[in-house]
Amino acid sequence: MTDTASNAASSGTFTIGGDLAVHRLGFGAMRITGKGIWGPPTDHDEAIRTLKRLPELGVNFIDTSDAYGPDVSEWLIKEALHPYPKGLVIATKGGLTRSGPDIWKPVGRPEYLLQQVHKSLRNLGVEQIDLWQLHRIDPKVPADEQFEAVRSFIDQGLIRHAGLSEVSVDDIKAASKFFNVATVQNRYNLVDRTSEAVLDYCTAQNIGFIPWFPLAAGDLAKPGSILDTMAGKYGAHPSQIALAWVLKRSPVMLPIPGTSKVAHLEQNIATADITLSEEDFAVLDAEGRKALQAAS
Ligand SMILES: NC(=O)c1ccc[n+]([C@@H]2O[C@H](COP(=O)([O-])OP(=O)(O)OC[C@H]3O[C@@H](n4cnc5c(N)ncnc54)[C@H](OP(=O)(O)O)[C@@H]3O)[C@@H](O)[C@H]2O)c1
Repeated sequence: MTDTASNAASSGTFTIGGDLAVHRLGFGAMRITGKGIWGPPTDHDEAIRTLKRLPELGVNFIDTSDAYGPDVSEWLIKEALHPYPKGLVIATKGGLTRSGPDIWKPVGRPEYLLQQVHKSLRNLGVEQIDLWQLHRIDPKVPADEQFEAVRSFIDQGLIRHAGLSEVSVDDIKAASKFFNVATVQNRYNLVDRTSEAVLDYCTAQNIGFIPWFPLAAGDLAKPGSILDTMAGKYGAHPSQIALAWVLKRSPVMLPIPGTSKVAHLEQNIATADITLSEEDFAVLDAEGRKALQAAS
């Protein structure tokens, strides 16, 4: 099994916003919080060990949000890694409020977004946020007002680059009139291809595409399934094959598998060493589309 420590550098490099080079295989820091992404993690010390292991494994791209905990994820990143190693890029987000476990409500009023940018700066202990993503476009607030606010954060030097989350191609085009959209973060995995058109647009425009929930493979990961068969062929875990497929799908793909455990992190990063053949990629692609059709 491909479990031993590898290096995220083997997954290749992508340059965010034209000047922040990161190894494509990153880390999502949502899972280092409590149940329902609420409060502290059940095992604080393991969460800290997981974060400290990131630079050792060559991971230099971390995704978090003010909403994870809330605040807890950003606090733990600072606790574990500050002062930050050179070249580490921390992306955070704002625009989703939390009023309880598993409750996420968008608020896109400019003054609220500005407050959250300032909070994230303090939580992370940085003078400028490398990449700040609008977690959701709030349908109750004119989109232009939200995009204008993001533009002003860049102009004020509070954030270096900006991105969007859970958006359509039209949303990206609309936001691009206000600021350079450096990244897009939409749910995407082998069996969830609803963002295929957005991914193709990002690939064409060289916009980083951050697929969240990258490990999900549903029934395809069950014993005897296609992922299981491929896992046997490559001496890997089914989750690693799912991740390797996502990585091969596009050069702008920046997967951020999330975990609260060192062992799972090492397993996920070991994916960087797996290169699927064109033929196996195509077989998995077809099976993923079939599973999606069957589910709809
Ligand atoms: N923009 C958005 O709206 C949005 C929404 C959701 C998430 N995100 C971001 O995307 C990141 C990834 O999404 P996600 O955490 O929902 O999905 P994911 O990375 O596909 O899956 C995470 C889940 O898989 C488990 N896991 C991870 N590695 C494993 C392994 N090697 N073996 C077995 N289980 C493993 C984790 O549990 P353990 O802790 O037990 O390993 C966790 O429950 C998040 O951390 C967050 O940064 C963004």
